[in-house]
Amino acid sequence: MPNNPSNSIQKVVALCSVVWLALANAVGLWLAMLLIWPRLGDLLSPLTYGRWVPLHMDWQLYGWCSLPLLGLLLMRFFEEDCEAEVLTVSALGFWSIGLLAGGVTWLSGQATGKPFLNWTGWGGAFFIAAQVAVWSLLAIAFFRSWRRWATGGQRSRKWIAIVLKTGILLSLLGVPLALFILSNPTIYPPVNPDSGGATGHSLLASTLCLVFLMGLLPGPLLRLRWKKGRRKGLLLAFWIAFAGSVFLYASIGHGNASNEEWDQVLGLGSLLIWPVFVALLWQSYEWSSESKLWKRSFFFWWALLAIDGWGIFLPMFLDTLKFTNALVAHSHLAMAGAVTAFNMLILLEMGSAKSVREILGQPRAAWAWNLSCLAFVAVLTLQGWREGNQPGALFDFDKLTETAYIARLLAGGAMFGISAYWVWQSATVFAKKVAIEALDDAFATRRKAFSAEVGGIEITNRTADGADYRCRINFEKP
Ligand code: HEM
Repeated sequence: MPNNPSNSIQKVVALCSVVWLALANAVGLWLAMLLIWPRLGDLLSPLTYGRWVPLHMDWQLYGWCSLPLLGLLLMRFFEEDCEAEVLTVSALGFWSIGLLAGGVTWLSGQATGKPFLNWTGWGGAFFIAAQVAVWSLLAIAFFRSWRRWATGGQRSRKWIAIVLKTGILLSLLGVPLALFILSNPTIYPPVNPDSGGATGHSLLASTLCLVFLMGLLPGPLLRLRWKKGRRKGLLLAFWIAFAGSVFLYASIGHGNASNEEWDQVLGLGSLLIWPVFVALLWQSYEWSSESKLWKRSFFFWWALLAIDGWGIFLPMFLDTLKFTNALVAHSHLAMAGAVTAFNMLILLEMGSAKSVREILGQPRAAWAWNLSCLAFVAVLTLQGWREGNQPGALFDFDKLTETAYIARLLAGGAMFGISAYWVWQSATVFAKKVAIEALDDAFATRRKAFSAEVGGIEITNRTADGADYRCRINFEKP
């Protein structure tokens, strides 16, 4: 392969990720229109609102939210393989076919009724097969790297990577199986009968998994260098505090635990320390200059998420905001705000491809995304507060509700436009790369044919004293 393999992987992963972001955003935009003008739905009957919703939510989660992390995994397994680009394109291709098949299934009206565990019918079978196919590609690359290691001279340096990758491969085997089992509505019902919903305990558990990922991101996952002069003690303090949070999690009640119990409130409130800790830790690493804006955006969204999540959980607010648009605002704050910034950092730092950094690190587009998303979240939070206090405002669809929905549509339109711009720019770079490689191949074939025919040329130069100097250039292997 002519290019640096990790840069090729980075370009393909970035393109595929933003394509899924734009597709899912397009569906989100359609949903936002339907919520203002329901009669528009007649145009695409029988594809009703309820059939489109899983495409938006599941394509965002398994497409945009997952692909950068999956890409990082592919990078670590494929980067030293001589067929890195083919393996990456194949893995992302299988994954995308699975997502498309899911989309067709949901549009046909089949769904499990469980948000994000909606893998049923043909779509479910395809997506699970796609995961098995991706796993097989990882296993092939791993086997090849193990063979290189076993026959090569680098025994001491690489055994840790081999052990880690073996562990990762074994644990990944459980993912398609778990998805298959949990998608069954009878096994894990949409609403937990023991608690009636998410408890402080369960919300703390899922957020701590993300904090764990945040702790690993810059060093072990992205392999960024620790800044000179920064004390390594910070790293230790981070993980000691994390162990403290896990201990707190294990100590508070679970199962039938109400948000009126002080331990639940304290447990979830303890998350407020993490935006500060994560910012201190991440600032100790050397990031590229193009990541600066997305890094700051992430700190902003992550802090706002912790405050918003805890605020909504408090009894005096939850009683008003439960099942209102304030929760839709919270989902977008988490996913369109915080996860998007997190994913941009992965895409920017997983390799050093200049084009990816220029496109995704472009400040104007990054500002536009973040400001539109903030407007989206602010409008829906206010709307949620109104609905909670005055449910008629939503059900009678009063003027202010209509204005809020139109403002959401405009902000969403801007977000869709920006994601389409990222797709356009990334696809142009990718098309140029493919064209250059095709030209290179054509040129190499012509050069081969020419050297086979002519063999080489001879140049003779006569100097002033009459002596001949001959030089022969052979068009054979250099
Ligand atoms: C173009 C931008 C977007 C628009 C116009 C949009 C629009 C919408 C709409 C109309 C809903 C349904 C709300 C309801 O049922 O009342 C929704 C739900 C949702 N969207 Fe988006 N969205 C956008 C971007 C995103 C992004 C980037 C993500 C994630 C990365 C995302 C994740 C979600 C989730 C998780 C829900 C379910 C919310 C809930 O029920 O609490 N959306 N979106």
